[in-house]
Amino acid sequence: MDELTVKPEISLDPDDWNDIKTLGYQIIDDMVDYLKNVGDRKPWTPIPQQVKEEFKKCIPHQPSDIFEVYREFKQNILPYPGGNIHPKHFSWVQGTGTPMGALADLLAGVMNNNATIGDQSALYIDKQVINWCKELINYPKDGSGLLVSGGSVANITGLIVARNTVITNSKNAGVYVAAGKLTAYCSAETHNCIGKAAEVIGIGNQQLRKIPVTDKFEIDIDELKSKIKEDKANGFIPFCIVGNAGTVNTGAIDPLDELLQIARAEKIWLHIDGAFGALAKLVPAYSDRLKAIEEADSVAFDLHKWMYMQYEVGCVLFKNAAAHRAAFANAVNYLTAHDRGLAAGPETISNYGMELSRGFKALKVWMSLKEHGLDKYSAMIAQNINQAFYLGEQVQQHQSLELMAAVTMNIVCYRYNPGSLDDDQLNILNKELLMRMHELGVAASSSTLLNGRYAIRVAITNHRTRLKHLDEMIAGTIEIGDRLMKEYEAKLFKFDFLNM
Ligand SMILES: Cc1ncc(COP(=O)(O)O)c(C=O)c1O
Repeated sequence: MDELTVKPEISLDPDDWNDIKTLGYQIIDDMVDYLKNVGDRKPWTPIPQQVKEEFKKCIPHQPSDIFEVYREFKQNILPYPGGNIHPKHFSWVQGTGTPMGALADLLAGVMNNNATIGDQSALYIDKQVINWCKELINYPKDGSGLLVSGGSVANITGLIVARNTVITNSKNAGVYVAAGKLTAYCSAETHNCIGKAAEVIGIGNQQLRKIPVTDKFEIDIDELKSKIKEDKANGFIPFCIVGNAGTVNTGAIDPLDELLQIARAEKIWLHIDGAFGALAKLVPAYSDRLKAIEEADSVAFDLHKWMYMQYEVGCVLFKNAAAHRAAFANAVNYLTAHDRGLAAGPETISNYGMELSRGFKALKVWMSLKEHGLDKYSAMIAQNINQAFYLGEQVQQHQSLELMAAVTMNIVCYRYNPGSLDDDQLNILNKELLMRMHELGVAASSSTLLNGRYAIRVAITNHRTRLKHLDEMIAGTIEIGDRLMKEYEAKLFKFDFLNM
């Protein structure tokens, strides 16, 4: 056992603290410049093959100089991000982060709290931030909540509590205790994390009823009512409705008031997936349509999306704090709270969720909200919504562009449509167009299919975006689309139906 007699004693701290200081100053200098000039770079740059090869190398056994490690980071990692800090990044629903948020993560890294247990500042800040999250959406003050990695886990956590609360003793006996198969309801446009939640809580994705949507991509209320009725008649146990405050594809808001009424009448849980859209509540024009969120049994939303905080941080809130706690609290000797000393802190946060170890994600939220104040965030969100409506109008003004769904919030779906192609051809053409937009650095939007039709999908949760960036994207779309049509006419571009 040679390893056990190693001497002298070692640690992972630097031999020379001045080196880490020098490197730290250098990193701050470089990163401030990097952020300041973010718009001068392309929104996305492909990773060269030789760089990808570097990422396949085996674990290093010997030490490297810290300056060399940083040099390698700058050479191989930093130049090839997903690009969501860029003003022309509109893919999926990704937030941008802020300079202060990055510094907060550095500070959290230095403190390196395990923000779960103990009488430590991190737990008090965590609680304060949860209270602020309630204030953000005007949720009841006596509700409870949890900061998690993001919307997916927030939604899953919501559904775990729903199952454990509505189905008495399911925590111990499992879903088998119910007198029939449990069913949950959401629109067909709902994010796939709700399907994952149905799998995780043991009801099975099949028992998640994906209700058809109207032409506005909102859940069809009549279909929902009749499905619940049919399920009941067939011995199923409806236990949860999931409403969307902003669907992932188009930003559609389900009729939340009606969902609330149905949930109350049927005595089932109402969970709202407000991953980004719940925050539109901060904009007066949306507060009425989103008011029912205040009454929902649980609501999930992200701070790393439309609050522009650094990844990762999402939040789930519960109206019934006792039910939230009951779903996760399990007394164990090694986590027992004491009267005094380190273990005298607030109750362990592990009593409110699946995680035991968790980082100090509340710090960046706390510092960012202090830096800017809530009103600035409301104005930022309103700005993104205005930008989306502006983009929708621009699309409608161009003959060769087609708006694919009404703009309701911050998402715009459109396609290039010269008028002479069928839907299948347009699907292929627009997919090629989007890939070229990425490669040429025009903008980084993502895509979706709406009723089987391929759409370029622009989600604006970006505090760096300006109208000129949207104008550039429109001009780039038309230019690439026109070029593709010329290539098609010259037989240089073919419709590859097999590869769609
Ligand atoms: C409506 C909706 N729900 C849930 C999620 C999942 O959130 P996250 O990516 O933070 O896990 C997303 C992500 O875009 C979303 O748009």
